[in-house]
Amino acid sequence: MSEQPRASFGGKLSAILVAAGSAIGLGALWRFPYIAGKHGGAAFLLVFLLSILVVGIPAMLAEFAVGRTTRKNAVGAFRSLSKRWSWLGYSGILGALLISGYYYLIAGWSLEYFVNSMSGALYSSSASFKDQFDTFQGSWRPLVYGVVFILMTHFIVSRGVEKGIEKASKIMMPMLFVILIVMAVRVAFMPGAAEGYRFFLSCDFAEAFKAETIMVAIGQAFFSLSVGMGCMVTYASYFKDDNNLMTTSMNVSLLTLLVSVLAGLVIFPAVFSAGLEPTEGPSLVFVTLPEIFNGMPFASLWSLIFFLLVILASLTSTISFHEVLTAYFAEEFKVTRKTGATITTIISIVLSAITFGKLFGVDYFGIFDYVTANALMPLGAMFTCVMVMWFMKKDFMKNELTNYGMLKSRTATFIMFMLRYITPLLIFYIFLKNFL
Ligand code: PHE
Repeated sequence: MSEQPRASFGGKLSAILVAAGSAIGLGALWRFPYIAGKHGGAAFLLVFLLSILVVGIPAMLAEFAVGRTTRKNAVGAFRSLSKRWSWLGYSGILGALLISGYYYLIAGWSLEYFVNSMSGALYSSSASFKDQFDTFQGSWRPLVYGVVFILMTHFIVSRGVEKGIEKASKIMMPMLFVILIVMAVRVAFMPGAAEGYRFFLSCDFAEAFKAETIMVAIGQAFFSLSVGMGCMVTYASYFKDDNNLMTTSMNVSLLTLLVSVLAGLVIFPAVFSAGLEPTEGPSLVFVTLPEIFNGMPFASLWSLIFFLLVILASLTSTISFHEVLTAYFAEEFKVTRKTGATITTIISIVLSAITFGKLFGVDYFGIFDYVTANALMPLGAMFTCVMVMWFMKKDFMKNELTNYGMLKSRTATFIMFMLRYITPLLIFYIFLKNFL
């Protein structure tokens, strides 16, 4: 295995699309619009943008640097930089395991809704959409679809870094953007859409700059940018040597922000136009939206397109945390990629079954989600920043950001300042506030 050169993503655009694929997912599509609407609308956008600039981009760059310079899986990467820091790699593996314990299940829900839109069953049933969702939740089908989602992910990841992950992202990401834009335009023509824009975009600075809101925004930045759990380390290990890490991270962040905003511009005008109340999380997507589609001509078609969007966005995210584990098993246990992927898939199925079955009556959804977003990812990101700036060779970060002097270094100087002082301190402060 070590004879072969390590796989790498084709070019600049591939690197951006693959990393943006990891970032853009359920976080942007249904977590963001609701929190933005609730926490000050357009003003929240500003706070989110600041969180991305101050915390998200620097932390992503620290991970990119670790991954590209070592060209190893998360554990191998941290260990080869410094034995004392290899635990950071393991914390990433733990994060990937926890996310695998619930993300596939949620992603699977949209498969059921996609299939039921296609067959027309969703819109011909006499049961209300709320009842349909509850019946679905009470059945075995969420687990079945969750497993199907894992197998779809497995199929892509096991085909390899270039033929699987890169190719899939290059097809699915453009589709995702087209669908979002088509839907945003369609929704703009619904009567009463303006009310929705008002809800989503009206500016409430007092709300947006509350300490609690800032915390929410930073948490969203971590989750949505896939930062703090070895994901970007693993992906960057496939970047080319001349990749401009700074522009890659900025493009990824920009695309994530763009999709988050577009999602809000689709969801809220539609909700208000239908005379409904915006709700949170699952019921927004699986109860409110079907109700809206139902009132539109070609209900099944719009519904089909929307759930395809959710599937595409989730799939490019699930392949990224599947890859974290696949690369880890393959490289650390010296098995083939296919075997690494198979081990990952089996573990993901077991974890999903445990979550679904509420083993010992525990709410794993809530716990896994809380622990990853509020502890593992922030702390992982914080220690990565500390490690690269304080415990590596003096010019480690500078060399990575400027490709050993090939790129201009003014932005790099600014980013390094953030990385050394501001970003880790801010994360630590938020973390303490969250727990005390
Ligand atoms: N960023 C993804 C989303 O918003 C979730 C994710 C987190 C993916 C961490 C990989 C790693 O849905």
